[in-house]
Amino acid sequence: MSFADKVVIVTGASSGIGAATAIKLAQEGASVVIVGRNEEKLKNVSEKCNSYGNRHHVVKGDISVEAEARRIVDETIKKYGKIDVLVNNAGILRLATITGGSMLDSYDEIVNTNLRPVIHLTTLTAAHLMASKGNIVNISSVAATKVTVGLSAYGTSKAALDHFSKGAALELAPHGVRVNVISPGPVTTDIRENAGLPPFNIQGNYKIPLNRVSSSEEVADLVLFLASDKAVGVTGSVFVVDNGLVLN
Ligand SMILES: NC(=O)c1ccc[n+]([C@@H]2O[C@H](COP(=O)([O-])OP(=O)(O)OC[C@H]3O[C@@H](n4cnc5c(N)ncnc54)[C@H](OP(=O)(O)O)[C@@H]3O)[C@@H](O)[C@H]2O)c1
Repeated sequence: MSFADKVVIVTGASSGIGAATAIKLAQEGASVVIVGRNEEKLKNVSEKCNSYGNRHHVVKGDISVEAEARRIVDETIKKYGKIDVLVNNAGILRLATITGGSMLDSYDEIVNTNLRPVIHLTTLTAAHLMASKGNIVNISSVAATKVTVGLSAYGTSKAALDHFSKGAALELAPHGVRVNVISPGPVTTDIRENAGLPPFNIQGNYKIPLNRVSSSEEVADLVLFLASDKAVGVTGSVFVVDNGLVLN
Protein backbone atom coordinates (compact mmCIF):
# COMPACT_ATOMS: atom_id res chain seq x y z
CA MET A 1 0.00 0.00 0.00
CA SER A 2 2.27 2.78 -1.19
CA PHE A 3 1.86 6.32 0.12
CA ALA A 4 4.80 7.65 -1.89
CA ASP A 5 4.14 11.31 -2.79
CA LYS A 6 1.26 11.51 -0.27
CA VAL A 7 1.23 14.14 2.45
CA VAL A 8 -0.55 12.97 5.61
CA ILE A 9 -1.26 14.90 8.82
CA VAL A 10 -1.65 12.64 11.88
CA THR A 11 -2.82 14.36 15.06
CA GLY A 12 -1.91 12.70 18.34
CA ALA A 13 1.04 11.00 16.68
CA SER A 14 3.27 11.13 19.75
CA SER A 15 1.90 7.87 21.18
CA GLY A 16 -0.49 4.96 20.78
CA ILE A 17 -2.62 4.64 17.65
CA GLY A 18 -1.36 7.89 16.13
CA ALA A 19 2.30 6.94 16.61
CA ALA A 20 1.75 3.50 15.05
CA THR A 21 -0.08 5.14 12.13
CA ALA A 22 2.67 7.70 11.55
CA ILE A 23 5.39 5.02 11.61
CA LYS A 24 3.49 2.74 9.19
CA LEU A 25 2.83 5.68 6.85
CA ALA A 26 6.53 6.59 6.91
CA GLN A 27 7.32 2.96 6.11
CA GLU A 28 5.01 3.23 3.08
CA GLY A 29 6.80 6.33 1.82
CA ALA A 30 4.42 9.08 2.97
CA SER A 31 5.49 12.56 4.03
CA VAL A 32 3.97 12.47 7.50
CA VAL A 33 3.22 15.50 9.65
CA ILE A 34 3.50 14.26 13.22
CA VAL A 35 1.43 16.35 15.65
CA GLY A 36 1.42 16.23 19.45
CA ARG A 37 2.53 18.15 22.54
CA ASN A 38 4.94 15.83 24.37
CA GLU A 39 8.39 16.60 22.95
CA GLU A 40 10.08 13.45 24.23
CA LYS A 41 7.40 11.18 22.77
CA LEU A 42 7.42 13.12 19.48
CA LYS A 43 11.20 12.67 19.29
CA ASN A 44 10.84 8.94 19.86
CA VAL A 45 8.31 8.59 17.00
CA SER A 46 10.41 10.83 14.76
CA GLU A 47 13.45 8.58 15.32
CA LYS A 48 11.39 5.51 14.37
CA CYS A 49 10.14 7.27 11.20
CA ASN A 50 13.75 8.20 10.37
CA SER A 51 14.58 4.55 9.80
CA TYR A 52 12.23 4.66 6.78
CA GLY A 53 13.68 7.85 5.30
CA ASN A 54 13.49 11.43 6.40
CA ARG A 55 10.35 12.82 4.82
CA HIS A 56 8.40 13.46 8.02
CA HIS A 57 7.87 16.76 9.80
CA VAL A 58 7.19 17.18 13.52
CA VAL A 59 4.81 19.91 14.64
CA LYS A 60 4.58 20.42 18.38
CA GLY A 61 1.14 21.88 18.87
CA ASP A 62 -2.08 21.79 20.84
CA ILE A 63 -4.98 21.12 18.46
CA SER A 64 -7.47 22.63 20.93
CA VAL A 65 -5.88 26.05 20.45
CA GLU A 66 -7.25 27.55 17.23
CA ALA A 67 -4.05 29.39 16.30
CA GLU A 68 -2.02 26.20 16.77
CA ALA A 69 -4.39 24.18 14.59
CA ARG A 70 -3.97 26.85 11.89
CA ARG A 71 -0.20 26.66 12.31
CA ILE A 72 -0.25 22.86 11.80
CA VAL A 73 -2.02 23.31 8.45
CA ASP A 74 0.06 26.33 7.42
CA GLU A 75 3.35 24.55 8.19
CA THR A 76 2.23 21.51 6.21
CA ILE A 77 1.38 23.60 3.15
CA LYS A 78 4.58 25.62 3.46
CA LYS A 79 6.72 22.47 3.66
CA TYR A 80 4.92 20.13 1.25
CA GLY A 81 2.53 22.33 -0.78
CA LYS A 82 -0.47 20.02 -0.39
CA ILE A 83 -2.45 17.73 1.93
CA ASP A 84 -3.67 14.30 0.81
CA VAL A 85 -4.90 12.80 4.07
CA LEU A 86 -5.93 14.12 7.49
CA VAL A 87 -6.00 11.59 10.33
CA ASN A 88 -7.89 13.11 13.27
CA ASN A 89 -6.64 10.78 15.97
CA ALA A 90 -5.72 12.95 18.98
CA GLY A 91 -8.03 12.31 21.88
CA ILE A 92 -8.35 12.13 25.64
CA LEU A 93 -10.33 9.96 28.01
CA ARG A 94 -11.89 11.28 31.21
CA LEU A 95 -14.27 9.50 33.56
CA ALA A 96 -17.18 11.60 34.81
CA THR A 97 -20.58 10.94 36.35
CA ILE A 98 -23.65 13.15 36.77
CA THR A 99 -23.63 12.62 40.52
CA GLY A 100 -19.85 12.93 40.91
CA GLY A 101 -19.94 16.67 40.35
CA SER A 102 -17.31 16.99 37.59
CA MET A 103 -19.47 16.22 34.58
CA LEU A 104 -19.59 19.68 33.03
CA ASP A 105 -15.86 20.37 33.43
CA SER A 106 -14.99 16.94 32.03
CA TYR A 107 -17.42 17.40 29.14
CA ASP A 108 -15.81 20.73 28.20
CA GLU A 109 -12.30 19.32 28.39
CA ILE A 110 -13.23 16.24 26.34
CA VAL A 111 -15.12 17.98 23.51
CA ASN A 112 -12.43 20.67 23.30
CA THR A 113 -9.96 17.92 22.37
CA ASN A 114 -11.99 15.09 20.84
CA LEU A 115 -14.54 17.03 18.79
CA ARG A 116 -14.06 20.79 18.31
CA PRO A 117 -10.51 20.55 16.86
CA VAL A 118 -11.69 17.86 14.42
CA ILE A 119 -14.36 20.23 13.14
CA HIS A 120 -11.81 23.04 13.01
CA LEU A 121 -9.11 21.01 11.21
CA THR A 122 -11.69 19.69 8.75
CA THR A 123 -12.69 23.23 7.80
CA LEU A 124 -9.03 24.32 7.60
CA THR A 125 -8.00 21.42 5.34
CA ALA A 126 -11.15 21.01 3.20
CA ALA A 127 -9.96 23.16 0.28
CA HIS A 128 -6.58 21.38 0.22
CA LEU A 129 -8.26 17.95 0.33
CA MET A 130 -10.62 18.97 -2.49
CA ALA A 131 -7.58 20.00 -4.55
CA SER A 132 -5.84 16.65 -3.94
CA LYS A 133 -9.05 14.52 -3.98
CA GLY A 134 -7.86 13.35 -0.60
CA ASN A 135 -9.57 11.90 2.43
CA ILE A 136 -10.05 12.07 6.19
CA VAL A 137 -9.91 9.25 8.74
CA ASN A 138 -11.35 10.07 12.16
CA ILE A 139 -10.65 7.93 15.22
CA SER A 140 -13.79 7.49 17.28
CA SER A 141 -14.58 4.76 19.84
CA VAL A 142 -17.13 2.04 20.49
CA ALA A 143 -18.07 4.29 23.43
CA ALA A 144 -20.01 6.28 20.81
CA THR A 145 -22.63 3.53 20.81
CA LYS A 146 -21.93 1.40 23.92
CA VAL A 147 -23.35 3.10 26.98
CA THR A 148 -21.18 2.87 30.11
CA VAL A 149 -21.56 4.77 33.38
CA GLY A 150 -18.61 7.16 33.70
CA LEU A 151 -17.98 7.27 29.96
CA SER A 152 -21.02 9.25 28.84
CA ALA A 153 -19.15 12.56 28.31
CA TYR A 154 -16.42 10.74 26.37
CA GLY A 155 -19.04 8.70 24.49
CA THR A 156 -20.98 11.86 23.66
CA SER A 157 -17.88 13.40 22.06
CA LYS A 158 -17.37 10.27 19.96
CA ALA A 159 -21.07 9.94 18.98
CA ALA A 160 -20.96 13.55 17.82
CA LEU A 161 -17.71 12.82 15.96
CA ASP A 162 -19.42 9.94 14.11
CA HIS A 163 -22.31 12.20 13.14
CA PHE A 164 -20.04 15.05 12.05
CA SER A 165 -17.95 12.64 9.98
CA LYS A 166 -21.01 11.40 8.09
CA GLY A 167 -22.12 14.97 7.44
CA ALA A 168 -18.63 15.84 6.20
CA ALA A 169 -18.63 12.73 3.99
CA LEU A 170 -21.90 13.77 2.38
CA GLU A 171 -20.91 17.41 1.91
CA LEU A 172 -17.43 16.69 0.54
CA ALA A 173 -18.31 13.67 -1.66
CA PRO A 174 -19.16 15.83 -4.73
CA HIS A 175 -15.64 17.25 -4.42
CA GLY A 176 -14.05 13.79 -4.46
CA VAL A 177 -13.13 13.82 -0.76
CA ARG A 178 -13.86 10.73 1.36
CA VAL A 179 -14.40 10.79 5.15
CA ASN A 180 -14.41 7.63 7.26
CA VAL A 181 -14.36 6.64 10.92
CA ILE A 182 -12.64 3.91 12.90
CA SER A 183 -14.21 2.88 16.19
CA PRO A 184 -11.79 0.91 18.34
CA GLY A 185 -12.64 -0.99 21.48
CA PRO A 186 -9.90 -1.20 24.14
CA VAL A 187 -6.40 -0.72 22.68
CA THR A 188 -3.17 -0.90 24.69
CA THR A 189 -1.89 2.71 24.62
CA ASP A 190 -1.05 5.55 26.99
CA ILE A 191 -4.66 6.83 27.05
CA ARG A 192 -5.60 5.42 30.46
CA GLU A 193 -2.30 6.45 32.07
CA ASN A 194 -2.83 9.96 30.63
CA ALA A 195 -6.26 9.96 32.29
CA GLY A 196 -4.79 8.85 35.64
CA LEU A 197 -6.43 5.42 35.33
CA PRO A 198 -4.94 1.94 35.87
CA PRO A 199 -4.27 -0.21 32.76
CA PHE A 200 -7.32 -1.83 31.11
CA ASN A 201 -8.20 -5.08 32.86
CA ILE A 202 -9.44 -7.70 30.43
CA GLN A 203 -11.01 -9.60 33.34
CA GLY A 204 -12.87 -6.44 34.38
CA ASN A 205 -16.25 -4.96 33.50
CA TYR A 206 -16.40 -5.86 29.83
CA LYS A 207 -16.70 -9.30 28.30
CA ILE A 208 -14.64 -9.30 25.11
CA PRO A 209 -15.72 -12.21 22.89
CA LEU A 210 -12.24 -12.69 21.35
CA ASN A 211 -10.72 -12.36 24.84
CA ARG A 212 -7.99 -10.01 23.67
CA VAL A 213 -7.19 -6.31 23.44
CA SER A 214 -6.05 -4.73 20.17
CA SER A 215 -2.64 -3.24 19.52
CA SER A 216 -2.17 0.23 18.06
CA GLU A 217 -0.67 -1.38 14.96
CA GLU A 218 -3.90 -3.26 14.21
CA VAL A 219 -5.85 -0.01 14.23
CA ALA A 220 -3.12 1.71 12.18
CA ASP A 221 -3.45 -1.00 9.49
CA LEU A 222 -7.12 -0.06 9.11
CA VAL A 223 -6.25 3.66 8.97
CA LEU A 224 -3.83 2.97 6.11
CA PHE A 225 -6.42 0.91 4.23
CA LEU A 226 -9.11 3.60 4.51
CA ALA A 227 -6.64 6.35 3.59
CA SER A 228 -5.44 4.43 0.53
CA ASP A 229 -6.87 4.22 -2.97
CA LYS A 230 -7.96 0.65 -2.16
CA ALA A 231 -10.87 2.26 -0.25
CA VAL A 232 -11.81 4.48 -3.21
CA GLY A 233 -15.50 3.58 -2.86
CA VAL A 234 -15.70 3.88 0.93
CA THR A 235 -17.04 7.04 2.53
CA GLY A 236 -19.23 7.92 5.50
CA SER A 237 -18.52 4.50 7.04
CA VAL A 238 -17.74 3.55 10.63
CA PHE A 239 -15.35 0.60 10.98
CA VAL A 240 -15.42 -1.18 14.33
CA VAL A 241 -12.24 -2.91 15.57
CA ASP A 242 -13.16 -4.11 19.06
CA ASN A 243 -12.57 -7.88 19.27
CA GLY A 244 -16.35 -8.32 19.33
CA LEU A 245 -16.98 -6.09 22.37
CA VAL A 246 -20.15 -4.41 21.05
CA LEU A 247 -21.69 -7.83 20.30
CA ASN A 248 -22.20 -8.35 24.02
N1 LIG B 1 -6.78 3.24 23.63
C1 LIG B 1 -8.05 2.90 23.58
O1 LIG B 1 -8.50 1.98 24.27
C2 LIG B 1 -8.98 3.64 22.64
C3 LIG B 1 -10.24 3.06 22.39
C4 LIG B 1 -11.11 3.71 21.54
C5 LIG B 1 -10.74 4.89 20.95
N2 LIG B 1 -9.51 5.44 21.21
C6 LIG B 1 -9.18 6.73 20.56
O2 LIG B 1 -7.95 6.60 19.88
C7 LIG B 1 -7.36 7.88 19.76
C8 LIG B 1 -5.89 7.78 20.12
O3 LIG B 1 -5.78 7.45 21.49
P1 LIG B 1 -4.67 6.45 22.07
O4 LIG B 1 -5.39 5.33 22.69
O5 LIG B 1 -3.63 6.17 21.08
O6 LIG B 1 -4.14 7.35 23.29
P2 LIG B 1 -2.75 8.01 23.66
O7 LIG B 1 -1.65 7.00 23.57
O8 LIG B 1 -2.98 8.71 24.94
O9 LIG B 1 -2.55 9.05 22.49
C9 LIG B 1 -3.33 10.23 22.41
C10 LIG B 1 -2.62 11.19 21.52
O10 LIG B 1 -3.40 12.40 21.44
C11 LIG B 1 -2.53 13.49 21.63
N3 LIG B 1 -3.25 14.64 22.15
C12 LIG B 1 -4.13 14.69 23.18
N4 LIG B 1 -4.58 15.94 23.36
C13 LIG B 1 -3.97 16.70 22.41
C14 LIG B 1 -4.00 18.08 22.09
N5 LIG B 1 -4.77 18.93 22.77
N6 LIG B 1 -3.24 18.53 21.07
C15 LIG B 1 -2.44 17.67 20.37
N7 LIG B 1 -2.37 16.35 20.63
C16 LIG B 1 -3.12 15.89 21.65
C17 LIG B 1 -1.45 12.97 22.58
O11 LIG B 1 -0.28 13.72 22.39
P3 LIG B 1 0.50 14.58 23.51
O12 LIG B 1 0.28 13.91 24.81
O13 LIG B 1 1.89 14.58 22.99
O14 LIG B 1 -0.16 15.92 23.37
C18 LIG B 1 -1.25 11.57 22.03
O15 LIG B 1 -0.34 11.59 20.95
C19 LIG B 1 -8.17 8.82 20.65
O16 LIG B 1 -9.01 9.61 19.86
C20 LIG B 1 -8.97 7.87 21.52
O17 LIG B 1 -10.19 8.45 21.95
C21 LIG B 1 -8.62 4.82 22.03
